[in-house]
Amino acid sequence: MTVSVEKSTTPSEPSYCFQATVDNIGPQVVGGRGVRIDIENEGKVYKNILDGVTGAAVGALGWGDDEILEIINKAAKESTYSFAPVMSNKSSEALAKFYIDRSPPGVFSAALWVTSGSESNENALRIIRQYYLERGLPNKVKLISRESSYHGFTLGAQGISSNPKTVPYQPYLMDQKNIALKMPAAYAYRWKKDSETEEQYGKRLVDILEKMILDNDPETIAAVIVETLPGSSLGTTPPPKGYLKGIRHLCTKYDIIFQLDEVMCGTGRANPHGKLNCWENFLDPSEGPDIQTVGKTLGSGYVTIAGVLIGPKIRNAFVNGSNTVFGGHTYSSHGFNCSVALGVQQKIARENLGANIFKMGTLLNKKLTESLLSTDNIVGDVRGVGGFQSVEFVKNRDTKKPFGPEANIIGRFKPLCFENGLAIMGMPANTNGISGDLVLFAPSFIVTEDDINEIVTIFVKCVNNFSKTLKQEGAW
Ligand SMILES: Cc1ncc(COP(=O)(O)O)c(C=O)c1O
Repeated sequence: MTVSVEKSTTPSEPSYCFQATVDNIGPQVVGGRGVRIDIENEGKVYKNILDGVTGAAVGALGWGDDEILEIINKAAKESTYSFAPVMSNKSSEALAKFYIDRSPPGVFSAALWVTSGSESNENALRIIRQYYLERGLPNKVKLISRESSYHGFTLGAQGISSNPKTVPYQPYLMDQKNIALKMPAAYAYRWKKDSETEEQYGKRLVDILEKMILDNDPETIAAVIVETLPGSSLGTTPPPKGYLKGIRHLCTKYDIIFQLDEVMCGTGRANPHGKLNCWENFLDPSEGPDIQTVGKTLGSGYVTIAGVLIGPKIRNAFVNGSNTVFGGHTYSSHGFNCSVALGVQQKIARENLGANIFKMGTLLNKKLTESLLSTDNIVGDVRGVGGFQSVEFVKNRDTKKPFGPEANIIGRFKPLCFENGLAIMGMPANTNGISGDLVLFAPSFIVTEDDINEIVTIFVKCVNNFSKTLKQEGAW
């Protein structure tokens, strides 16, 4: 399908929204069908842009899915609002049962539905705190998460994150020395030594974590929190072999909650069996997390929904204690959102779209690797799992030296892809907090082999042309 550019018929207006560039509307999505989107920008409408990233890895089904529009219609007619702290509803129960049943048996036994990934991590923190209070262990308060991590935009979620965007907010974040501790990121492409195997690198990181637990008094450590497959922070760098198993083992050994953040990588985006959880790539069914946060593809962009999945250990501690979760959000367990998300997930399961995206994402990785790493250009690494893939740009492939921020590599490359009909996500690679460039791919689960070929053709052309331009400029 060809991309067409038309003149916009809407008059230009100032922006009334407080987001992105404050005084400028910037690009606006004005339509979408399947894997294509229409974008209006600076007086032009670009039609049929191939959507390689579905916003921010949100789209599971394609845009404008007729069946989901019917489900939305039905849900709107049948849902009556209920306030979760005092009243439940059938849809939130059904969605929780669906997720629990499609995860390995015994890993999850309850779920809380909220409206964003950040909110899911905020609620996970509350659950962690109350869990230890229910058990009479009030001193278990310390959280260990990772450097170069992203768990959300709210202050609690930023407190367990570590990236340059959190720095200005430090005065409002949890105490980073005594409460929200940080261990090194797992980033094999950069930080694995040449003399190490992947397993040895994984073990080195797990040993660092164990030392941290012992140095900080295991009796005071509440949880270890990691993204199973980091997205916005490190660009789909898979955990080294044995690493997540090692963390699971330490958490069990020292009575610590093991929390996985699968907001971006989970809910079907990267499950090897076409099911829901990304961790099933790296952990046995018996090694699942105690808490897992999810979001994004759960509602596939049709509704604002995210969730916290809770293992039996935690649920039992509540049941045997106060048996109460005090309070909640106005829109927790929102019946309409849960009903639509369930419809989305049922359709994905029925049409086996989880298996499709795993296969198509793996194909995308293979084709990008073959085309980009065999020729001379600025690509240093192609990596990812299933439908969540990244390409990292470097100035020097041998030394892995990144471009500096002044080169504005990703800022220049992203519009190039757009002009050629492909939407991607571009972001800093977080190599040292300031330099480095990444492209993220997270297409919708309905993507076909033809779509993958088109993504690869456009992307490879853009990379090679851009590399040539940089060479002419003397920047590469
Ligand atoms: C791993 C991870 N956790 C949490 C979040 C926050 O989710 P939301 O933007 O829905 O608040 C994100 C968002 O990108 C994420 O990637």
